[in-house]
Amino acid sequence: MASAPDAQTTIIRPYISSDWRDCLSLFDGNVLRFFSTAERADFANFLDQDAGAWSYQVIERGNRVIACGGHALDAQGQTAYLCWGMVARELQGTGLGDMLTKARLRAAQNTPGVTQVRLDTSQHTQGFYRRFGFTVEKIVPDGYGPGLDRWDMLLCFCASE
Ligand SMILES: CC(C)(COP(=O)(O)OP(=O)(O)OC[C@H]1O[C@@H](n2cnc3c(N)ncnc32)[C@H](O)[C@@H]1OP(=O)(O)O)[C@@H](O)C(=O)NCCC(=O)NCCS
Repeated sequence: MASAPDAQTTIIRPYISSDWRDCLSLFDGNVLRFFSTAERADFANFLDQDAGAWSYQVIERGNRVIACGGHALDAQGQTAYLCWGMVARELQGTGLGDMLTKARLRAAQNTPGVTQVRLDTSQHTQGFYRRFGFTVEKIVPDGYGPGLDRWDMLLCFCASE
């Protein structure tokens, strides 16, 4: 007989509009160290207008969204852009970022025609993405705001095949 799912079971699934508030809370918990306050309106706008149509995923545990992130494709369908990836601040360092990133890269790699993945992130997080094979293309000091540099990074699937 099948047993009921554990309340603490961790699942990954596509974003739905009712996740909006939880995702904004994840953003708020990461402001200052990882995001600037000026980006909040952009993220809210993204959730309103794009997340449902893009490949945007959430990790849920016990009916709570604890991480989110996804990707969009360029017009040619060759480049996937990772966007708005984040883990609940108090759960960072517990493997959720790894789970989320692998799921995002898998989704991108399984999309016919996609040969590379790009992202931009801060100096605090670039080391995390290097672990997945991303290399640095450009660094803009204070690119997101004072003290928050912008790092543009690239992962090419063709190089590893
Ligand atoms: C970056 C982020 C997604 C990492 O998620 P996480 O859940 O803390 O990471 P994990 O626990 O899965 O860590 C996996 C491995 O990466 C390492 N790691 C985690 N954050 C790292 C960082 N900033 N730099 C270098 N390595 C890092 C961990 O030490 C761990 O290594 P191990 O397997 O040898 O123990 C998370 O810190 C986050 O949400 N940051 C805020 C949002 C953000 O900046 N997003 C990116 C741009 S939009």
